[in-house]
Amino acid sequence: MISFIGAGKVGSALGLYFKQKGFKISGYYSRNYIHALNACQLTDSKAFKTIPELLKESSMVWITVSDDAIELLGKKISEMYIPPYIEAFIHTSGVHSLEALLPLCKKGFRTYSAHPLMAFGNPQESIERLNEVYFTLDTINKELSENKQDDYMVNFFEKTGNNVLTINTEKKELYHCAATILSNYLVTLLNMSYEMFEKSGMDKSVIKEATAPLLNSTLKNIVESDKMKNALTGPIKRGDKTTVIKHLKVLQQIIPIKSTLYKELGKETMNMTQDYRLKDILD
Ligand SMILES: NC(=O)c1ccc[n+]([C@@H]2O[C@H](COP(=O)([O-])OP(=O)(O)OC[C@H]3O[C@@H](n4cnc5c(N)ncnc54)[C@H](OP(=O)(O)O)[C@@H]3O)[C@@H](O)[C@H]2O)c1
Repeated sequence: MISFIGAGKVGSALGLYFKQKGFKISGYYSRNYIHALNACQLTDSKAFKTIPELLKESSMVWITVSDDAIELLGKKISEMYIPPYIEAFIHTSGVHSLEALLPLCKKGFRTYSAHPLMAFGNPQESIERLNEVYFTLDTINKELSENKQDDYMVNFFEKTGNNVLTINTEKKELYHCAATILSNYLVTLLNMSYEMFEKSGMDKSVIKEATAPLLNSTLKNIVESDKMKNALTGPIKRGDKTTVIKHLKVLQQIIPIKSTLYKELGKETMNMTQDYRLKDILD
């Protein structure tokens, strides 16, 4: 019986996904009862009004609340009566380690951090991608090593068919920073590019569609290239000095603040290719 505390994007999508994989979903508790009800409708399960009610009907509890709420919630649950048939508590944060659930761990319960490496949106769309998703588990850290850390989650993900990665707890912040750059800042970069297309006179309504083949072919090249630098095209790779000078000039005129970012990204590009022909211009 799987239950979720936190009926947001991740909780709703995982509930739907695990249900499709044949697991029984007990239900949801959330700060806002209406949100718990919405998630229950998706998963044909119960909306609990309190956490103790949820605990009574769970064997595996996923804590899918916002990052900042995990630690406090873990502590709060550890002060409640927890039925002995609860097998595990799992949070899904990419930045917090399993230490966030230390009070529960100290009470003898299995605790895990299982971060799904994907960006969740609408639950129905998210579950289509969840089959391919890797879940990253923290490795055991010193403080927790005496507790019950075992293959429980690995066995669980064998049943769902998901791949599992493990990460040293101490490296988790760096790991999450990498995921943020890949996902969030890609959106930021694209937004910056779309704004420039618009300023260049392109009709706003066609920008996304017109640039999709460029974006999709770039992503395909990245995924399929054995070396990142092989996915790169453009003036820095070609060493086209005049082109880069023109870019910097137009940025200075129209959106000067972006020229700093252009230069910094250009330097990163040179580091990747180990080709510093345009160093003078980008410094
Ligand atoms: N979004 C992603 O793409 C993604 C990807 C990987 C991992 N994660 C991780 O997954 C976790 C959940 O993220 P999310 O995107 O699903 O967030 P979200 O959509 O904002 O949902 C969080 C849910 O937690 C509930 N909540 C917050 N504090 C609570 C508390 N004290 N008690 C009970 N419920 C509480 C909220 O309740 P109400 O709505 O009822 O107020 C909300 O429904 C986070 O740790 C996040 O880092 C997210």
